[in-house]
Amino acid sequence: MSTQHARRTPLHFNAFVMNTTSHIHHGQWRRPDAGQTEFTDLNTWVDLARTLEAAKFDAMFFADVVGLYGDADADYSVYVNEGLQIPSNDPTVLLGALSVVTEHLGLATTSNVFQSHPFQFARQISTLDHLSHGRIAWNIVTGTQDNGSRNFGLPRLTDHTERYAWADEYVDVAYKLWEGSWDEGAVLKDRAGSRYSDPARVHKIRHEGPRYSVEGPHLPPPSPQRTPVLFQAGSSASGRDFAARNAEAVFLTAADPGIARQQIDDTRRRAVEAGRAPEDIKFFQGLSFIIGDTEQEAQRKLAEAEEYASIEGYLAHSALVDPDGRVYPPQTPLKNLKTNTQRGAAEWAARAITDREPVVADIGWRGHRNNRVVGTPEQIADRLEEWQAAGVDGVNVINWVIPGSFEEFAQKVLPVLRERGLAQREYAPGTLRQKLFGRDRLPETHPGAQYRGAFAPAPAVV
Ligand SMILES: Cc1cc2nc3c(=O)[nH]c(=O)nc-3n(C[C@H](O)[C@H](O)[C@H](O)COP(=O)(O)O)c2cc1C
Repeated sequence: MSTQHARRTPLHFNAFVMNTTSHIHHGQWRRPDAGQTEFTDLNTWVDLARTLEAAKFDAMFFADVVGLYGDADADYSVYVNEGLQIPSNDPTVLLGALSVVTEHLGLATTSNVFQSHPFQFARQISTLDHLSHGRIAWNIVTGTQDNGSRNFGLPRLTDHTERYAWADEYVDVAYKLWEGSWDEGAVLKDRAGSRYSDPARVHKIRHEGPRYSVEGPHLPPPSPQRTPVLFQAGSSASGRDFAARNAEAVFLTAADPGIARQQIDDTRRRAVEAGRAPEDIKFFQGLSFIIGDTEQEAQRKLAEAEEYASIEGYLAHSALVDPDGRVYPPQTPLKNLKTNTQRGAAEWAARAITDREPVVADIGWRGHRNNRVVGTPEQIADRLEEWQAAGVDGVNVINWVIPGSFEEFAQKVLPVLRERGLAQREYAPGTLRQKLFGRDRLPETHPGAQYRGAFAPAPAVV
């Protein structure tokens, strides 16, 4: 290994999965080697988690939704036929089991701010952070579906701006519970003194806001990370502002390294405006890989994947709806969209297409064609160097099949990356935040940190 390679900063690698049959690459579940059809079997995930840990992946990252995509009043048989995120099981529950069978792997779940009350959610996450000894991450999402919103009693998907204001209050409640309710040293376990915890160091948070009223105290004692590692994926201007204030890791699906560079620079600039350090946020690009020992083999495997690809599935997944909730026809120019759903995706897809008028169907095609890297392990390593040069800190590896896509990446690509100093050889000790950032807790500049000690009674004035 050359000294130049030895000095490189390794990229981080997450396995991007969902507790369902068809997550991103639709149609692939029909392949004979596709294990994702058995997603209800705990062993599917236990075995995968062990494979990922043996390969030194940083984390297993579960996406999630709470409803169907597209027009909530229309026929939804395409989603059911395709197994497209229906059927699906809850990822957060699954993390409890995965905590027990792994030791180092980070475990990330996705939870929408309208799907559970923040008091309950904060308690679940603290419990998982205890069970896993500090390896939990939360992907904060605000919803993209009318149907998902109706499942929680809302008439439809809440307005884009209000969704982020809601998320602001939601995380505020959670930060108060995680960071402020229990002071350091509050747990005494003092058998002789008959005090399990110290009442002077356990506080009610008394949150009163437009959407939530939460008295506290938080019921779990402080977990190793207190606040889980915070992921976020919105790419609209409001999404980037929210990420700049709150996220520690941002999930990108940039069309190319140049676009990634723009999104990263913009979000880091906003983070600095919010009083944070640019390096407080790490950026993960979503990529899938077709790996061949030769270029010819890679092309042959690509053709095989194409045979199984379901274009109906990609289009149904990326369906965008108009202000009345109706799906836009695929040939609608992106400049004519007035959508309340995935604004960022539309905006950035439009920027990536410069030789013709970008249309709605391009977003579906992007899911299919873009963000896949085809070649030999060396060629793949070269491409990853380009993403790293654009400022990307890590990759969310998108699978075609479970567990094959990850096994192949571990066997063929990671050794080449390790040779180049681009993938870690061993885990750093400690919590997920310690592994990623060298600290167990949120930094002082994060908004969650303001609640440390904030609820202790003021000292009596003498
Ligand atoms: C790569 C990526 C992954 C996402 N994963 C999820 C998810 O698992 N669940 C979900 O409800 N939304 C998910 N989203 C949607 C975003 O969280 C966000 O709601 C959406 O991009 C709209 O926000 P925006 O208009 O700010 O871009 C994802 C978005 C992207 C780009």
